[in-house]
Amino acid sequence: MRKITVIGTGYVGLVSGTCFAEIGNHVTCCDIDQTKINKLKQGIIPIYEPGLEETVARNVAEERLYFTTDIPSAIREADIIYIAVGTPMSVTGAADLRYVTEVAKTIGENLNAYKVIVNKSTVPVGTGRLVQRVVQSYLSDTTQTFDVVSNPEFLREGSALRDCMNMERAVIGATSDKAAQWIADLHAPFQTDILITSLESAEMIKYASNTFLATKISFINAVANICERVGADVTEVAKGMGMDSRIGSRFLQAGIGYGGSCFPKDTHALVHIADSVGYDFHLMKSVIRTNDEQREVVVEKVRQVLGPLKGRQLSVLGLAFKPNTDDMRDAPSLQIIPALLRKGARVKAFDPIASKEAVVHFGDKIEYCTRLEETIQGAEAILILTEWDEIKQLDLDRVKELVQAPVIIDGRNCFSLEEARAHGFIYHSIGRPVVEQAEDN
Ligand code: UDX
Repeated sequence: MRKITVIGTGYVGLVSGTCFAEIGNHVTCCDIDQTKINKLKQGIIPIYEPGLEETVARNVAEERLYFTTDIPSAIREADIIYIAVGTPMSVTGAADLRYVTEVAKTIGENLNAYKVIVNKSTVPVGTGRLVQRVVQSYLSDTTQTFDVVSNPEFLREGSALRDCMNMERAVIGATSDKAAQWIADLHAPFQTDILITSLESAEMIKYASNTFLATKISFINAVANICERVGADVTEVAKGMGMDSRIGSRFLQAGIGYGGSCFPKDTHALVHIADSVGYDFHLMKSVIRTNDEQREVVVEKVRQVLGPLKGRQLSVLGLAFKPNTDDMRDAPSLQIIPALLRKGARVKAFDPIASKEAVVHFGDKIEYCTRLEETIQGAEAILILTEWDEIKQLDLDRVKELVQAPVIIDGRNCFSLEEARAHGFIYHSIGRPVVEQAEDN
């Protein structure tokens, strides 16, 4: 059994470290943030992720999972070191590699035996080689050997533990057969398909996969906009397309565009990578532009139904970038709500868990509600921005009793057109025919 150290207890580091412990390894997760580490030791998880708290607690209790700020010791003790620090987007759109290089330097300074250094952070192609150079240049014993591996993560927020424990594939980009074998062995208990590649290919697989999914989303959103104009229904179109196994049915749900910590950052980063090697990735630039414009589609729909928005009471349901997370990074609500406020609307908002996060962005410019009914009360239009289960399961009869006007602008296609019609709502959704006239009016 090899000892594993994970540096960086953000989303990726914490979930990956916990899963490696869960399959029986001895794992030490480190961070420079003392408060975070203290909390983790007490079982307090800094992010919302279903199942994570219990799994961390169990592995800590069973003495497989440890937390520390003593990174040098954790490096010296480990056989395998995972780098899982943040790579935020810099102003140019490129990934900022400051934290990765800092960690590589600390690894070099503390390397006391052969170790495999694995990059888990999403990093531009070439970063593995950069880590190799930095570690090498800081070695205190220059005869010490090591290998660098790229082992990208493909976790989705809200189902990260499940995704990790049931991973569809492990991509291992390695600089030696020995390192590839160590990381392949580590993944054996996951019983997953393993693909061994060069460092550069593994780094590229991560970007190509994420940006391809983003492309699928922008594509179906663009198709949705055409569907609206020609009288087609994008859900039927997506279903028909998805029945072709070459296309596949997933990630073809039209809506208000992708958000979160990965797709927006990775699409910009790949455009930047392409630019830096002299390739104009105009396809990806259009994907990004289509995604930005998709947020405006919803605002335009509200304006179409209500006319001028000054003084109008709107109820916004869902603030997080997707359900089952409190993450607001690049959430569509961040553009849509300010646009509504600029037009003079009054906004009451509800999200099952992201409201606290939302206060940071909207301050006292909107009213936050803790209950759905309170949010809907007196609304002149309801806007659905995140497809939480409790929003999808709303009792439309009860909603109708509470609102001032039966209008729903649904950015996530939560209800069927029949349902909306049967309950007498004016219902505008994405890429589907409009339900115009409330039947019982
Ligand atoms: C994504 C990738 O799925 C994961 O592999 C990667 O490692 C990190 O980025 P995540 O950002 O957690 O995961 O969320 P995901 O469930 O993939 O959704 C991303 C965005 O796309 C969300 O804003 C979601 O609302 C949107 N989306 C997704 C659609 O608009 N339509 C779809 O059909 C699917």
